Amino acid sequence: MSTAQLIALDLLATLLAAAGWVGAGVAAAARHARAALALLVVAVVVTLARVTTSVALATGGWWFAQDRVVLTGPLLGVAGLAAVLVAGPRLLYAVRAGTPGNSPTAVVPLLVAGYAGAAGLLFPLLVGYPATWGDVLVTVALVGVAGLVTWRVAGSGPPLWTFLPVLAMGLAGVGAGFATGADLDAGGGPTAHHPAGHGVSVTDLRGPTTPTPGGQVRRYEFTARTTTIQVGGRAVEAWGYDGQVPGPPITARQGDLVEVTLHNADITRGVTLHWHGYDVPAGEDGAPGLTQDAVPPGGEFVYRFRADQVGTYWYHTHQASDVGVKMGLYGTLVVGPPAAGVDVTLPVHTFGATTVVGPVDPPAAAPGTPVRLRLVNTDGVPHRFALTGTAYRLVAIDGSDLNEPGELREATLRLPAGGRYDLSFTMPAAPVTLFVDGDPGPRLGAGGGTPPPAPEGWPELDITGYGTPAATPFGPESDFDRGFTLVLDRGIALVDGTPRYAYTVNGRAFPNIPAQLVREGDLVEVTVANRGFDTHPWHLHGHRVLVLERNGHRVTGSPLWLDTFDVQPGEVWRVAFEAGNPGEWMNHCHNLAHAALGMALHLRYDGVTTPYHGAHGG
Ligand code: C2O
Ligand code: CU
Repeated sequence: MSTAQLIALDLLATLLAAAGWVGAGVAAAARHARAALALLVVAVVVTLARVTTSVALATGGWWFAQDRVVLTGPLLGVAGLAAVLVAGPRLLYAVRAGTPGNSPTAVVPLLVAGYAGAAGLLFPLLVGYPATWGDVLVTVALVGVAGLVTWRVAGSGPPLWTFLPVLAMGLAGVGAGFATGADLDAGGGPTAHHPAGHGVSVTDLRGPTTPTPGGQVRRYEFTARTTTIQVGGRAVEAWGYDGQVPGPPITARQGDLVEVTLHNADITRGVTLHWHGYDVPAGEDGAPGLTQDAVPPGGEFVYRFRADQVGTYWYHTHQASDVGVKMGLYGTLVVGPPAAGVDVTLPVHTFGATTVVGPVDPPAAAPGTPVRLRLVNTDGVPHRFALTGTAYRLVAIDGSDLNEPGELREATLRLPAGGRYDLSFTMPAAPVTLFVDGDPGPRLGAGGGTPPPAPEGWPELDITGYGTPAATPFGPESDFDRGFTLVLDRGIALVDGTPRYAYTVNGRAFPNIPAQLVREGDLVEVTVANRGFDTHPWHLHGHRVLVLERNGHRVTGSPLWLDTFDVQPGEVWRVAFEAGNPGEWMNHCHNLAHAALGMALHLRYDGVTTPYHGAHGG
């Protein structure tokens, strides 16, 4: 059983346990002693079952079970045991003697066990990992207050002053919550060395102004503006770079200098350009509030970087990026040389309910022509591609070539939000169709005719076992200078000062997630675990990460250098990178709606400072 299924099963068991205990209490209060006794037995059985699910969860990773083991399990265990010992004999006696069995000594302990069960259900949904001392105190106090109130309502309650210690405990817990406010995570490495305010500013970490010898300057001038575009025959309000959606494609050769002057005509929320997957100098990264201020209407910003990485990338606004990218502020960045034959870049973007592939259809390709399709997922959710009519190879992921990728046929390719896949094949005599999420998309080769049947039941390619291993500069056994753990979930947290049902990292949301501190040259390991029910495409700016393990299994195929990896519910990814690009960097979920709801943090190089404050992570 997968961890995601276990999480669901555990929550179901907790729900049933809570319902069983509450039901037993209600039945007892309603003078149905026999029913109460039966429900008590059910509650005990389900509560014990929950012990099993908690232990099973712990084997998938401590993060998945910590709250169950240190807090909600013991709480329900103690309350349930008390209910069995106190209410059990009374209910038994009532059944035998034919009396109602509705005395408070029977009812109240059963209901308290029910409250403890409810806490076990709500805690993982509202708080999650890690359960802190403050959380423990608050949770126990809440169950305690509910129990005392019930007891008094039931008649023979304790004096009012008994509430005081319980309330004090709750307040202490709240206080403890406020007190734990580290804003830096050194990942087990040395802490900050440079005193605050001393060091290099991100604004000084700018790109060169000349190409490498022999390269060219690729100069672009983009004006972001509101516009109207046609999607599936409908006029749709959009925002575009140069009024175009996608924005003008940027192409370059390795060694060229890319220079883009960004203007903003009328996007009132402001715009930037972020080079997704491209490890530009920090000052060119386009992260508002961190590396620059967003460009307001009438403003401009000039970006410059050398096209050192070959491959398929994309650019997008990083200001109010959830809205901005959805509205159309994105485009492709491909660093060549272009492949021989047909080389076409197909960004996939969803407008409302319509998923559009590529700004234009691929050009005609005669049989025998080599074809390269560069797929770019510019949406916040994964897309599933299938290529029919030909065998092909997945030759590059996120701009990095794979080592000896094998031939694929009848496979489904799941492309994470923000990610890129390059597919390569030789054009056969019959047409080739690219399916997107089960629907026929662009078609190459002899036009017309009926579209081929949709591929059904084609297995999903596991990229961690595709291609052939090759040497990497570091690997699972390396000695890491620092290690960070990011546990992704949902929960109540402050997002920009407002309590929200946020997307959280280690129980907190932007900007309260401690920044990760590294030093230049560090080898850094990052573990990302997903406790929630959403997929989180994790994206670190300025660095490629090497995948070490997924769910405890090492990569057995080609090395995977990714900038966006899809952490699905219950999954645990272990990745690593070399800290070789000094700056302050965003590190966030690329479902940009999740980032806007808190799932974003910073990676900070010791000694790098930023003069910008306060803009949102998403
Ligand atoms: Cu593609 Cu922080 O983004
Ligand atoms: Cu997410």
